[in-house]
Amino acid sequence: MKGIILAGGSGTRLRPLTGTVSKQLLPVYDKPMIYYPLSVLMLAGVKEILVISSTHHLEMFRSTLGDGSRLGVSLSYAEQEEPNGIAEALLIGADFIGDEQVALILGDNIFHGPGFSAILHESIRQLDGCALFGYPVKDPQRYGVGETDAEGRLLSIEEKPAVPRSNLAVTGLYLYDSDVVNIAKNITPSARGELEITDVNNAYVAQGRARLTALGRGFAWLDMGTHDALLQAGQYVQLLSHRQGERIACVEEIALHMGFISAEECHRLGREMASTSYGRYLMDLAARSAAVVPA
Ligand code: DAU
Repeated sequence: MKGIILAGGSGTRLRPLTGTVSKQLLPVYDKPMIYYPLSVLMLAGVKEILVISSTHHLEMFRSTLGDGSRLGVSLSYAEQEEPNGIAEALLIGADFIGDEQVALILGDNIFHGPGFSAILHESIRQLDGCALFGYPVKDPQRYGVGETDAEGRLLSIEEKPAVPRSNLAVTGLYLYDSDVVNIAKNITPSARGELEITDVNNAYVAQGRARLTALGRGFAWLDMGTHDALLQAGQYVQLLSHRQGERIACVEEIALHMGFISAEECHRLGREMASTSYGRYLMDLAARSAAVVPA
């Protein structure tokens, strides 16, 4: 399975924070926002990842993340000239996707909760059509909203409905089979002029091949569209990290955990930031996971 992180858009709702910096590079407590969606793809076992951003921000992503080899993954980059809609990521990434399955994730979405890894692996194992993830919210009007039957098969998705049929927001993580590029090629811009991901998803709904897994109580799905939401996300990450002594979306830790890098490599990454608690955390992890670690 290939992975795409969509990290474009104009970031207007976060101005003036986003005057020069891309929204998805803003700090969420101890790391740039894009680490969070990157960690989801890595946890899902995805190693070939395309990062899509606007023309003038792409270089910042490249210099922040590089080619991914330090994390044992392969990162490549592509431009989205204008924010023409989330589904455009599937057209920009068409050659990259080829005839493989793909996981598309929005660069401003945080997922964190018990058993998430297992949920991801099971959804990929069963993937037939598309797999989406629903999250109960009190303001579904702001999102794509899904309605399912008792087996979790999607009956409909409506984008920002005035009268939602459920409280289940469709989150910004989408798993697709290899038909998705052809489906995306056949959708047309909506009334607001965007290629809507909801139209892609509804094409799968029409085929009866779209599932929605509800992420329940105790799970955190956060999107960081406002100043308050950004700060709250940082505070959430800080609180859990301090309380449990474990970091959230620490991509180096996930690379070690997934076997993408060795304990020695993890230790080296930590040593580069040895003056920070983040760096020392990596060195400790590496030391615990290997009998012998270079001094
Ligand atoms: O966050 C989940 C929601 O994301 C879903 O429930 C909706 O169905 C989906 O349409 C989307 O709604 P939003 O209103 O949050 O979409 P927004 O335009 O804010 O874009 C989401 C992120 O994707 C944002 O960080 C900017 C980025 N983006 C957006 C567009 C339209 C791009 O990189 N390129 C784009 O062309």
